Amino acid sequence: MNEIRVTGGNSLHGSISIQGAKNSALPMMAASLLHRGISVLKGCPRISDVFCMEGILRELGAVTWWDDHDLYLDCTEANKTEVSAEYTEKMRSSVILLGVLLARNKKGRIGYPGGCVIGRRPVDLHISALRSLGARITEGGFFIYGECDCLKGNRIILGKTSVGATEQAILAAVTSKGETVLENCAKEPEILWLCRYLKTMGADIQGEGSSVIRIKGVKELSGGTMRVPSDRIVAGTYICAAAITRSEITIENAPIEELEAFLEVYEKMGGQYEDKSGKLRVNGKFVCHPIHCLETEAYPGFPTDLQSPVLAVLATIPGQSHIRESIFEDRFRAAKELVRMGAHIEVKGADARIDGGYPLTGCRVKADELRGGAALVLAAIAAQGETCITGAGFIRRGYEHICEDLKALGCQEIREE
Ligand code: UD1
Repeated sequence: MNEIRVTGGNSLHGSISIQGAKNSALPMMAASLLHRGISVLKGCPRISDVFCMEGILRELGAVTWWDDHDLYLDCTEANKTEVSAEYTEKMRSSVILLGVLLARNKKGRIGYPGGCVIGRRPVDLHISALRSLGARITEGGFFIYGECDCLKGNRIILGKTSVGATEQAILAAVTSKGETVLENCAKEPEILWLCRYLKTMGADIQGEGSSVIRIKGVKELSGGTMRVPSDRIVAGTYICAAAITRSEITIENAPIEELEAFLEVYEKMGGQYEDKSGKLRVNGKFVCHPIHCLETEAYPGFPTDLQSPVLAVLATIPGQSHIRESIFEDRFRAAKELVRMGAHIEVKGADARIDGGYPLTGCRVKADELRGGAALVLAAIAAQGETCITGAGFIRRGYEHICEDLKALGCQEIREE
């Protein structure tokens, strides 16, 4: 799929269920490599980032197979230690495998991580956490090398809140010798789910979801089995789809408690929602208020991953809105494409000022990262005429079937080509 073609302008209705979360599935897959046997991830999203992580595990010697959306990972013979740059440059979160390789094999070599072009995205915190656990890390050319005699528990204070570095440290620490205390941990739900999964494998972890996590290393882990939780970012994207088309839809399995900061902003825009025993009914018919200052933050603050979808919605609301992106340096790349569609957005550094309410008109636009690409799809379903979104492969990294989902919700013309 390279292009998505959408004819916008009609409202949405009906209900939709949400895929498993990309950002939970990936670290859970990495964690499975800590067990020399079979682990099962139920309800795993069939998206290209998951296929990329599956490719890496296979390259390391794992045998994997799918039964519908259940992913089986047999890591009995996954004893290789080198991950080629071909995979890692496609997906940033591959870097968390370095700690797992060290824990399992005492050495590892991994290509420098790639991923979405949304800022510098260094890996210094990952490397310093692994060094604190006793690994010797060298960086050279296209690769990061690590080796250790054995990983030993330690006190690690993460210099900055980072989801990936927190996951890296947890994965490396669960089978290390002695106790590890991790301070200034990220509190994102994905950390909690990773720890829950590791606990099903026999890990001894306390404090997950708070800023201090304590881990007592265990000798070995058994096989894990867990359902991948539903994707809070995909749920938020579809709530934005209802908002931008001023429609009413139901989301069957929205992780409502993980969407608090987002739903607060959605309500400020005039959006309404009702939690009907786990089903989230969202009504975007009264979305009309600009947002004077929205700032992205680490969880439980407003998620940077929903910044672009909300930017698209704000472009349709008359009045002045302002978004400050405080997590990544270059995450307004969708803005210039939205401007091509008729939006009035001015970006200066970390700030986007939106003069909303100008009509959007379909044209040819380019997605160059995942969430920005999803924002263009949202703009397209609200725009007059046909929009062609190129670079749609970026969207497949995180959305299993965005076209089918929006079609099921009543978008009359939307297809992948
Ligand atoms: C994860 C999510 C991503 C989300 C992001 C922030 C996955 C697969 N991806 O990305 O969707 O947008 O959290 O919620 O889960 N940083 C450093 N040094 C490091 C690591 C990070 O300076 O070693 C900085 C980053 O440049 C960024 C900030 O820390 O400014 C937060 O990044 P981080 O939380 O690590 O994001 P990811 O784990 O890459």
